[in-house]
Amino acid sequence: MALLYKSAATLLRPSKLAPLTATLTRQYSASQYQYILVEKRGEKQNVGFIQLNRPKALNALCDGLMLEVGQALDTFEADTQVGAIVITGSERAFAAGADIKEMQNRTFQECYGGNFLAHWNKVSLVKKPVIAAVNGFALGGGCEFAMMCDIIYAGEKAQFGQPEILLGTIPGAGGTQRLTRAVGKSLAMEMVLTGDRITAQDAKQAGLVSKVFPADQLVSEAIKTGEKIACNSKLVSAMAKEAINAAYELTLAEGNRLEKRLFHATFATEDRKEGMTAFVEKRKADFQDN
Ligand code: HXC
Repeated sequence: MALLYKSAATLLRPSKLAPLTATLTRQYSASQYQYILVEKRGEKQNVGFIQLNRPKALNALCDGLMLEVGQALDTFEADTQVGAIVITGSERAFAAGADIKEMQNRTFQECYGGNFLAHWNKVSLVKKPVIAAVNGFALGGGCEFAMMCDIIYAGEKAQFGQPEILLGTIPGAGGTQRLTRAVGKSLAMEMVLTGDRITAQDAKQAGLVSKVFPADQLVSEAIKTGEKIACNSKLVSAMAKEAINAAYELTLAEGNRLEKRLFHATFATEDRKEGMTAFVEKRKADFQDN
């Protein structure tokens, strides 16, 4: 183990955010990533942690970065220890949008024919709960990326915006759809048509984010919530997540029907039995994810 730790540590890019722990393995070696830092966090190492790391470009979401995020998400999805994922940027920027320099000379044929940005929605497809911890700018694709996550926490100085209109284009990764569902038509229209940004406090009031924290506490609070989620049954959490996400897609009647099916399905799990037995026996449930 000591040997493994040493060899893994030599491969890892040092993170200022947390000391390396003995449980880091080659699987999370940062050497495979150029644009992100990837670790496991939390007392039980059950929270997957992805930090966008292109500081000079304010974490502009170039193709390579988004592909790496997809790889890291795949790794965490497959890791049975991980029960939640936190994605963050730096204190200055969660992400200032898609990489404008990369997009600047793209043609319609390249975009449409090449299925440009097709892999961007990966984060919205993972089964494990994902928390976006947003400090600083979350603009354009950055705001859209955060909105693809399940929970958004914001630092006090965070700013959210869809400024694509100022570049002669429109949001292309769900901004017009998810923002409208989150904050309502009037504010979504105002943001998309003017490019104006809103503060963390406004975003909280509008329902875009669920909590606001001082910037330096944001990540640890997101990890804490991730740990709380990871202690529950991963199987049942995935069902809960599926049911909530269905609310965006289905009518109320269809959604309620799906919810009922999933609720019934929990009765096929050992974890449902364990949860209710633990309650009756006045002890903490010990979920095994089956
Ligand atoms: C590429 C970017 C970038 C971006 C910032 N940078 N945003 N590079 N793509 N989206 C780079 C700058 O070019 C600069 O590098 C460095 O980051 C620092 O940025 P500054 O502008 O010098 O910083 P500041 O004055 O503090 O202004 C911060 C800012 C501004 C307000 C966030 O950078 C800005 O307006 N950025 C663009 C925001 C935006 O329009 N986002 C939407 C993108 S379109 P250099 O090397 O030049 O100094 C989009 C479409 C999504 O997201 C569609 C589907 C995915």
